[in-house]
Amino acid sequence: MDLSRRNFMQAALLGGIALSGGAALSAVGTHQRRSSMLTLPQAADLAGLAPSSAALKSQSLALGRLFPALLDPDAEGAPFIANTLSSGDSFAGLIRQGEPGNSVFLRQPGARAIIPWTPVFIRENSQLLQLPSSVTRQIDCSDLLVMNESSTRHPVFGNKARKYEFVLPNLKWSGAKRLGTIGAISSNHALQFALANRVADLTGDGQPLNCALDLVLFEVPGAVTDIARLAILRGLAEHVAIAKNDLELAGEASQEYAKSWLHPDTDLLVPPGGSNEVSVLGHMNAIAELAHFLDAAQAWNAPPDVIFVAMGSGSTVLGLLLGVHLMGWKTKVVGVADQDKSYLTRWLVNRQPSLPFVEGNVAKLARSTVDWLQKIRFPGNSPDVLRVMQDEIFLPDSTSWQPGYGLVEDTDLAWANELKEAGLSLDPVFTLKAWRSLLTMSQAGALKNKRVLFWNTYNSFDYMPSLLSSLG
Ligand SMILES: Cc1ncc(COP(=O)(O)O)c(C=O)c1O
Repeated sequence: MDLSRRNFMQAALLGGIALSGGAALSAVGTHQRRSSMLTLPQAADLAGLAPSSAALKSQSLALGRLFPALLDPDAEGAPFIANTLSSGDSFAGLIRQGEPGNSVFLRQPGARAIIPWTPVFIRENSQLLQLPSSVTRQIDCSDLLVMNESSTRHPVFGNKARKYEFVLPNLKWSGAKRLGTIGAISSNHALQFALANRVADLTGDGQPLNCALDLVLFEVPGAVTDIARLAILRGLAEHVAIAKNDLELAGEASQEYAKSWLHPDTDLLVPPGGSNEVSVLGHMNAIAELAHFLDAAQAWNAPPDVIFVAMGSGSTVLGLLLGVHLMGWKTKVVGVADQDKSYLTRWLVNRQPSLPFVEGNVAKLARSTVDWLQKIRFPGNSPDVLRVMQDEIFLPDSTSWQPGYGLVEDTDLAWANELKEAGLSLDPVFTLKAWRSLLTMSQAGALKNKRVLFWNTYNSFDYMPSLLSSLG
């Protein structure tokens, strides 16, 4: 298992073990191995939560419309993206290049890169949401639309699903059997990953990844632990460790700390938020889908001028930035950070103490992703894509998250209620902060005469009743 010290520091910090005011990493908590009395629910108990196999097989990769070579098994000069539900391709005998879950696969050395992709959710034009005039008249822009990545029917949908559509089959092709992942107890990634591991059919004949999964979860200081959510996580994972902030650990000790919670045979610690280079493809593809939805709805005669999106571990906003670049749009993407960290932590994780923490994460992921895309000869990126993204597309907002991670004010709550009535449910950690950023820019007159798209990354599916009953 490759768990370098720096990787763990990043994982731990992103996942929520806070370095406060330059103090050492603090953690340690309770350790819960699944008791032999408990059995994981049969996949069949959970299968009802996934879309039908026929509907999933009808999905296609929107990036393929832009670059047909990506979907053409006989093309050259670009990677081949293999739909694992329909291609019938076997991965036996392929050479893996890269870490499990973040690899490309080759038929022989030097051959074209193959990247597996499995549709795990159904895209619908209705995701493009027009808010009522009672809302839009309060925003000073020419038009406002929402890309609403939310489902009342499907627990694995939109933001997280887009990442897993690339990461899960990659793990399967990499032969992963035992995984760990990390996040706050309330982490959308921890819950949806644990679920997708059990329900997302990766073969078309009902075979999910089904890896043994260890979760290392952090209590967020000041937040009440959601016991029902924890019960669900325990039902889905083999092993759940709850980290508290009692004991201070740093450096090597922190790495040992994480290892001590993971099974020694763990193949991989899936990064916090599910963000790695491969997962970025999910939101590059999402922009190609947005282009299609806008065409189909004949909503606008030009691309959005501004997109607002929440950012945490980084692959969502980075995928949108690269997607905008691929499309040749002049759109600005406002990425709204969910938090910031001390100078020491910024330095430890990103080596860029002067850059706000989340921006630093995105910058680091951007460098490695662009490098990787160039290596695999992914089409459409200009050689100076990093500069173009930084100077012309990306508008990071590292202030709207205040006064604190997940903390909102009365005005935010009033907006949350109004938007909910309009069909848009937002969460306090990510999307409500992105909405706040939109309002601030509107009030400053910066959106005047602009086509504005709000990208909702929060899946408001109500997990508790359906999952608790499936899990018994
Ligand atoms: C609802 C929601 N929105 C946005 C994000 C941020 O996405 P990313 O981690 O890819 O930056 C997350 C991440 O966990 C999330 O759960």
